[in-house]
Amino acid sequence: MQNALTPRLDPFALARDLAGRNLIDGALVPAASGRTFPVVNPATGEEVSTAAYGEASDVEAAVAAAVKAQKSWARLPARERGRLVAECGRRLTEHVEELGRLIALETGKALRTESRVEASVLADAFVFYGGLGGELKGETVPFNPDILSLTLREPIGVVGAIIPWNVPMMLMALKIAPAMVAGNAVVVKSAEEAPLAVLRACQIMNQVLPPGVFNILSGFGPECGAPLVTHPKVGKITFTGSVETGKIVYRAAADKLIPVTLELGGKSPMIVMGDADLDKAVAGAVTGMRFTRQGQSCTAASRIFVHSSIHDAFVERLKAKVDAMVMGDPLDEKTDIGTIISTQQFEKVKSYIKIGTELAGAKANVCSAMPSDPKLAKGLYVQPVIFTGVDNDSRLAREEIFGPVTCVIRFDEYDQVIEQANDSEYGLAATIWTRDLRTALDAARRLEAGIVQVNQNLVVQPNISYGGVKQSGLGKEASLEAMLEHFTHKKTVMINMQ
Ligand code: NAI
Ligand code: MG
Repeated sequence: MQNALTPRLDPFALARDLAGRNLIDGALVPAASGRTFPVVNPATGEEVSTAAYGEASDVEAAVAAAVKAQKSWARLPARERGRLVAECGRRLTEHVEELGRLIALETGKALRTESRVEASVLADAFVFYGGLGGELKGETVPFNPDILSLTLREPIGVVGAIIPWNVPMMLMALKIAPAMVAGNAVVVKSAEEAPLAVLRACQIMNQVLPPGVFNILSGFGPECGAPLVTHPKVGKITFTGSVETGKIVYRAAADKLIPVTLELGGKSPMIVMGDADLDKAVAGAVTGMRFTRQGQSCTAASRIFVHSSIHDAFVERLKAKVDAMVMGDPLDEKTDIGTIISTQQFEKVKSYIKIGTELAGAKANVCSAMPSDPKLAKGLYVQPVIFTGVDNDSRLAREEIFGPVTCVIRFDEYDQVIEQANDSEYGLAATIWTRDLRTALDAARRLEAGIVQVNQNLVVQPNISYGGVKQSGLGKEASLEAMLEHFTHKKTVMINMQ
């Protein structure tokens, strides 16, 4: 174990120092080709650093390091692996401010409302999973008094983790912390839009964990992600991203017959019944829609069904609440809402706003105000939009926008609203807001989603199982269950003692 790194609070300087590096076998190294690609601050459009342009040869080096390291890592007592992973969590906790600033710089997510929070969730996930080494338990199976039949939870070997840019540190943690505690080695492929904060987090972990147990590469999907999925020595892929890419990954994994976990998109319904606590529901819509993350969340409450009796009051209060949120420099403590991640996503979000504006009967309630600071004139800012007068069949209500755009849809009948909520390709998350316990329970059973919440819209928690149905994905993340089901395989052992 090496000495602790000192937190670096100037994100611009830190970003420059991390330029053009992957972390392979415990060392920060350039891509084999020497190539890099730019890292851009979406609040100004300026290039702040570069990232290593990882390709198949870098994947090869990282997987070779992981294969080698995994054998002795898996032989450590499980609780010792856990202790080391928890120590990573402790050190990451000391870097929350640093990591928060760095991720704010590269993603445009506001420091106070999002980026600092994400950095602490990263640290917490390592602390949580670090405590679970002793839970890698098998079973004894009654069979015959002379034969002891039991199961062992064994690591898979090398796990490939492909992450997106919206909450990269949190999603990396929820993949690699359980994978490593379970005795696997990992190779992470970061998202091209957000390579630096995850690299820095890995550099901090590198002070604690043996070389090769985890490796991280930056690069583009087809050139760096695809060779990781198809590599013959990678025994499992855990992926978060778009449905389209998720299916490409799933097909490639099928050729190798390896397991995958897929966390994909969503179009999550929020149902507000006539008897709901209106203020709580409005606050829940703001959290649920992740307005502070510019709506860039797969769980975003992007279809809000509100009972006719309270529809107008709900919209008025929601608009007032979002209007009061400050758009600005992501690194400024006063800022609630930062920028969209990239010009590509910016164009996508804008195109949906245009579709909505041209929709007959729809009204675009545009909220908050663009930042006035001239330094931010080229920033990828989009004012939040609450559409009303939209129905569940419109593209706005069917397709994942991944921006600060939500639809409030009026309803009268409970059975009908459940049907509408379920009338979606997706099934990630859902919420219902009511004071009636019978309605709450009934909805919890009938809503097609991986997670249903009543009268709250909590974000992902390390110990609560998370994952979708339908096009939203396969398998679960977070919780003990995810570690056991998705990062180990169960081996049966039978001992004949006669
Ligand atoms: P994406 O699914 O293309 O990218 C996610 C990750 O997959 C990135 O690391 C990317 O480099 C990698 N990747 C891309 N092509 C690959 C391939 N052929 N093989 C292996 N890895 C590959 O998502 P993208 O382009 O960033 O965003 C597009 C849309 O996806 C968004 O507008 C949003 O709707 C959705 N999305 C959903 C997320 C979620 O949390 N479920 C996260 C990010 C995006
Ligand atoms: Mg893509």
